[in-house]
Amino acid sequence: MKKQQVLDCSFSSWYPIFKHITIDSHVIPLSKDFLEYLDADGIYLPASPNDEPSNIIEEEEEDGNPSKIPSFPGLEESIRAAIQDLGGRVFPKLNWSAPRDASWIACGNTLQCTCVNDIFLLLKSSDFITHDLTEPFKHCTDCEQGPQDTQYELVLRRWCDISEATEFRVFVKNDDIIGISQRDHTNYFPDLGPSAEQIHEEIEDFHDRHIAGNFLDHDYVYDVYRQDKRKFLLIDFNPFGETTDSLLFSWAELNDLDVASTDSQSWETFRYVRSAAGIQPSQFLSYRYPVDVLHLTTGVDADRLVDFLRTEMQKPYQQEPTTSTQDDSNSVQFEDLPEK
Ligand SMILES: Nc1ncnc2c1ncn2[C@@H]1O[C@H](COP(=O)(O)OP(=O)(O)OP(=O)(O)O)[C@@H](O)[C@H]1O
Ligand SMILES: [Mg+2]
Repeated sequence: MKKQQVLDCSFSSWYPIFKHITIDSHVIPLSKDFLEYLDADGIYLPASPNDEPSNIIEEEEEDGNPSKIPSFPGLEESIRAAIQDLGGRVFPKLNWSAPRDASWIACGNTLQCTCVNDIFLLLKSSDFITHDLTEPFKHCTDCEQGPQDTQYELVLRRWCDISEATEFRVFVKNDDIIGISQRDHTNYFPDLGPSAEQIHEEIEDFHDRHIAGNFLDHDYVYDVYRQDKRKFLLIDFNPFGETTDSLLFSWAELNDLDVASTDSQSWETFRYVRSAAGIQPSQFLSYRYPVDVLHLTTGVDADRLVDFLRTEMQKPYQQEPTTSTQDDSNSVQFEDLPEK
């Protein structure tokens, strides 16, 4: 994958071309100060709108250490204006990624934002956003890692209730569709099977009429939402390469596919989950709680659990757990442990 392919999928590169078939959006350029705020440890949200001229206000905390309360009046004003213009509810993302891994931290477990702080909280909590900021060209063969001279932007899109059952990812090589996958491959949608052929045809038609030859590249991946029969909404473009989730395909088969010599009978272009037994785990499972808690509660990493229990067993039993005054934030209360 080349750096240019990734740049072509940056939101503001393709949005002007496909504005008429995608969701209304605003693009707000981000300053270096704001990017530093996103990159900094901890989550501090703006204190109050409109009042502070500087970007970072030092505020004294109870323990005497200053905490950094951010304030970006210009940006906040642009965000508020965009939210209002887009109907009061927006979906946020940066050049490439939305903070989908952080939705668990938001009220309602969704990316729907109605105010500045909703957006800042999601952006600050997301590893996907950090990826955009620190290694957007990770899989590119023609450039060093790192953001280099990237102009970062905040993209706010009009909120749109999308049914996951009819969203699809389309893989394109030389401007021809080589694969279409159910976008949410972690679920089985019983209604999909009976309409599969029809949907496949409709996506081919949508592709020929609106996408083929109009995108900046010839190999690419895009997501579409079928709102209704023959009615599609373009959601996003992604680079044709490993950085993009291949869903019900594998990158090995997509890369190796030779369209000219492949027997169309043996290659399954349109893929969807055919039974409840075929569902796969969600990629967001590991993003909900601190991973240590997951390791301990699920026993995924048995060694860590054993180490943890061993440490607990080695602790001297001098105090009743309930009367402990020491820092016991790390300990679990075992009530009936045998004496060693
Ligand atoms: N305006 C919107 N309103 C509501 N939901 C949306 C909106 N835009 C996108 N979505 C939902 O969020 C999902 C992710 O959006 P998008 O593709 O823009 O993010 P992304 O970070 O690029 O994801 P990926 O890396 O998987 O391509 C979409 O597949 C769609 O289901
Ligand atoms: Mg995308």
